[in-house]
Amino acid sequence: MREISLPLPGRDRSYRLLIEPGLRLRLPQLLVSLNVPRRVFLITDTRVGSLYGDQMVAVLKEADYSPTLLTVPRGERAKTWPVAQRLARELLALGADRSSLCIALGGGVVGDLTGFLASIFMRGVPFIQVPTTLLAMVDASIGGKTAINLPEGKNLLGTFHQPRLVAIDPQFLRSLPASQRRNGLAEVIKHGFIQDPDLLSRLEPGTRIFRDEAELTEIIHRAAAIKAKVVAADEREGGLRRILNFGHTLGHALEQASHFRLPHGEAVAWGMLAALRLSVKITDLPPAAAARGRQLIRQTGLARRPLDLDPQIIMEALPLDKKRQEGRLVFILLRRFGEPVIQEDIPLGLINDALQEEVLGANG
Ligand SMILES: NC(=O)c1ccc[n+]([C@@H]2O[C@H](COP(=O)([O-])OP(=O)(O)OC[C@H]3O[C@@H](n4cnc5c(N)ncnc54)[C@H](O)[C@@H]3O)[C@@H](O)[C@H]2O)c1
Repeated sequence: MREISLPLPGRDRSYRLLIEPGLRLRLPQLLVSLNVPRRVFLITDTRVGSLYGDQMVAVLKEADYSPTLLTVPRGERAKTWPVAQRLARELLALGADRSSLCIALGGGVVGDLTGFLASIFMRGVPFIQVPTTLLAMVDASIGGKTAINLPEGKNLLGTFHQPRLVAIDPQFLRSLPASQRRNGLAEVIKHGFIQDPDLLSRLEPGTRIFRDEAELTEIIHRAAAIKAKVVAADEREGGLRRILNFGHTLGHALEQASHFRLPHGEAVAWGMLAALRLSVKITDLPPAAAARGRQLIRQTGLARRPLDLDPQIIMEALPLDKKRQEGRLVFILLRRFGEPVIQEDIPLGLINDALQEEVLGANG
């Protein structure tokens, strides 16, 4: 079993992130060590619930736990106040109290929603993360950020609430659709670019990594360790956490310009391609490294065909980026793989060039 220890901010305690194929079947043993009440609440979405809900309920019941499965719709529409309120009222009706444990069984949506609810229900109850998408395993389940959306935008209501445990079972990824695998791979590649060149080499087989469970476990471990390291050093996004925005500044603008039709992983992949190009120009990343990075991204099936989006709308979306600092655009670039640079004040002309040439295919 792989294990990463994560500090609880402001306290001398820590919590564990565990990774092992088949770990979902050993969840009860993990709960025993957390010393939580037998009554537990599994929160999941309709798809994950239909795939794994019965199995998880059975596994917990066999070990004398008393689980209830609560299901929310799939996708972003579950990360809303009405859904959070409905869940809270269901918990009350089911007799949940201050010590009740919520288990987030799902992707980043379920993790963010459950974490948010757990942070405010009766002023805070414990919760654990059982992530079922690659993105949630290497990113969303780590760091304690929780959120729901408002009609005005994504993640506008949120809290920091650390889980008591993150239990990662790579076998969940067997049923994950290819598009969702790619979404997660974009973040794994990002982690490689900013901190771990060896992880990049491991990703070179592209989507074939999903056929080798031991290798997949290693990749998840390495990628999760990077996110864990960065957030442990910097829980509230002051300095180091900003490097996690590699590929995201432009990525967010692309998502907005596409009215969120472009999947997040695709947008980040394009953002990373542009950042590689800018890195060659501004921070002296060797062109051969940028070419290798580009190939790696394409090998995973990401960013294959140039986007058909209006460059002006994308550029206009940039200054609205919430990662902007005091009116200046901050881009994360690379000096080399594993060596990120927080670059401020990049001329908009250079960004526009990178956008045209790399993303919109102006150079054919
Ligand atoms: N809290 C954080 O730090 C953080 C970081 C990154 C992203 N996020 C949030 O994460 C969310 C995106 O997460 P996501 O990409 O996991 O999306 P998601 O939770 O919507 O899951 C994607 C789809 O995959 C399905 N699915 C999940 N696991 C499955 C499995 N094992 N087999 C088959 N289908 C499965 C889901 O039903 C859903 O339809 C966004 O809301 C984003 O804001 C949060």
